[in-house]
Amino acid sequence: IDSTREPAAEQLFKYFENESKQSTLTTSGGNPVADKSNILTAGERGPLLIEDLIYFDEMQRFDRERIPERVVHAKGAGAFGYFLVTNDIRPYSKATLFHPVGKKTPLVARFSTVIGERGSADTARDPRGFSIKFYTEDGIWDMVGNNTPIFFVRDPLMFISFIHSQKRNPVTNLKDFDSFWDFITLRPESTFQIMRHFSDLGTPDGHRHMNGYGSNTYKLVNEEGHPVYCKFHFLTDQGVRNLTADVAKRLEADDPDYSTRDLYNHIASGDFPSWTMYIQVMTFEEAERFRWNPFDVTKVWPENEFPLIEVGKMVLDRNPTNYFADIEQVGFAPSNMVPGIEPSPDKMLQGRLFAYQDTHLYRIGVNHKQLPVNSPFRSPVVNTIRDGPMTYTDNQGGAPNYFPSSFSKRSGCASAEQSRYRVSGDVARYNSSNEDNFSQPAMFWRDELSDYDRTALVNNMADHLSNAAPIFQDRMVKNVFEVDTKFGQMLHAALIRLKPKHLF
Ligand code: HEM
Repeated sequence: IDSTREPAAEQLFKYFENESKQSTLTTSGGNPVADKSNILTAGERGPLLIEDLIYFDEMQRFDRERIPERVVHAKGAGAFGYFLVTNDIRPYSKATLFHPVGKKTPLVARFSTVIGERGSADTARDPRGFSIKFYTEDGIWDMVGNNTPIFFVRDPLMFISFIHSQKRNPVTNLKDFDSFWDFITLRPESTFQIMRHFSDLGTPDGHRHMNGYGSNTYKLVNEEGHPVYCKFHFLTDQGVRNLTADVAKRLEADDPDYSTRDLYNHIASGDFPSWTMYIQVMTFEEAERFRWNPFDVTKVWPENEFPLIEVGKMVLDRNPTNYFADIEQVGFAPSNMVPGIEPSPDKMLQGRLFAYQDTHLYRIGVNHKQLPVNSPFRSPVVNTIRDGPMTYTDNQGGAPNYFPSSFSKRSGCASAEQSRYRVSGDVARYNSSNEDNFSQPAMFWRDELSDYDRTALVNNMADHLSNAAPIFQDRMVKNVFEVDTKFGQMLHAALIRLKPKHLF
């Protein structure tokens, strides 16, 4: 072991040091292997034999090593740890993981970029995924958030086009600046998030130095069945730190795995990153009076009106023992909820409730919840789901696979009952594209950004936008004039200064 090298570089040496006993090489069936270096041939220079079972065993498995990468958030890093309750929020939620003070719940977290493929660079300008799987006594709670309290669009039907507009052009297989800016400028509800995106907040300095947010509005329900609306916040105890565009770009080339390396090394050397969890709470009466739609994920709830209430601390203290098994195969789904946490009518959240388990059934497999990293190992699974490829557990043995059953002592649990709520209104496709797209961006520009931040935002945006056709540049300038005249003027001037790119 060379203590002058980073822990990530020393992984193989560390493994070797700890490997206690000699072991025999085997086939996948566990049969001992005598020679793993030389293929079986008919004569020294002759052809291979199909009876080289060692070769075929390994090659057939090699041919099948890949599973589909995540359709979004493909590049990521993760670690294990725990959640410690520091403040009892029982008045708001009966969720058992939140009480009493001092309770520890094991968890796994994964951080990611959104658009790039599995091998893409960690420091790309992109939101960062911030997912936590809590292994609670009441099953899994997945908090699947981002490092931004808001999102680009507020209608889930828009999500697919939003993502497609940033993925590769179907003909050129290149990222397409026109499709990106075409979509963004046609959907001005994205303005607030686009401003965060092109400020230095769009390039966090690794995963440890960013906050996490549930972003969507959820519902908390207490033991009396009383509901409130809620947002989740995880503020980094390492402090927020961002990269300038130049440094982020340099790292894309020099160290594309910068954030993965940073997380691994800090945990391996005992410097465990942590985040403090808070909630914001809004009563149903406050939701009625709120000047914005409280279920609009393109907007924040101002913290001076809805103050942060501390809940506990998340600490990451263990690196994965195997990246593929622990992190590539982990599946986070907003639909994994525990009693005491429920969906709100937030359209984006409702759209997400369907998508994640659906993609896990395809990406990982129908029995993905039996894998150790996804298993609700602290609460036995009791249901009528059976069979499917790779059934790994005892498949619930002889228990009846139907309900109700005269042969079952299984029953519902009154304390898990979902809160009741009333809905009304006509079934229709309601157009939400123009619900005050600019007042929160204006507040962000005016009150939250420093002069340095404003200049960085304008320069970073102009640098990217100058790759797009003039029609999209004009439309974006027009949109940001709606935020603030100065913003419009600055972006216009920066675009004039920059030469049009990609001239042939
Ligand atoms: C990943 C869908 C909005 C955060 C994914 C995946 C899908 C998806 C299909 C891939 C999951 C996998 O393969 O395991 C959607 C849809 C959305 C939406 C349909 C809107 C209608 C959001 C929002 C956030 C978010 C608003 C943040 C608040 C994430 C994160 C991941 C992810 C963090 C990566 C999870 C991981 O680490 O494995 N999303 N998403 N998504 N999404 Fe969304």
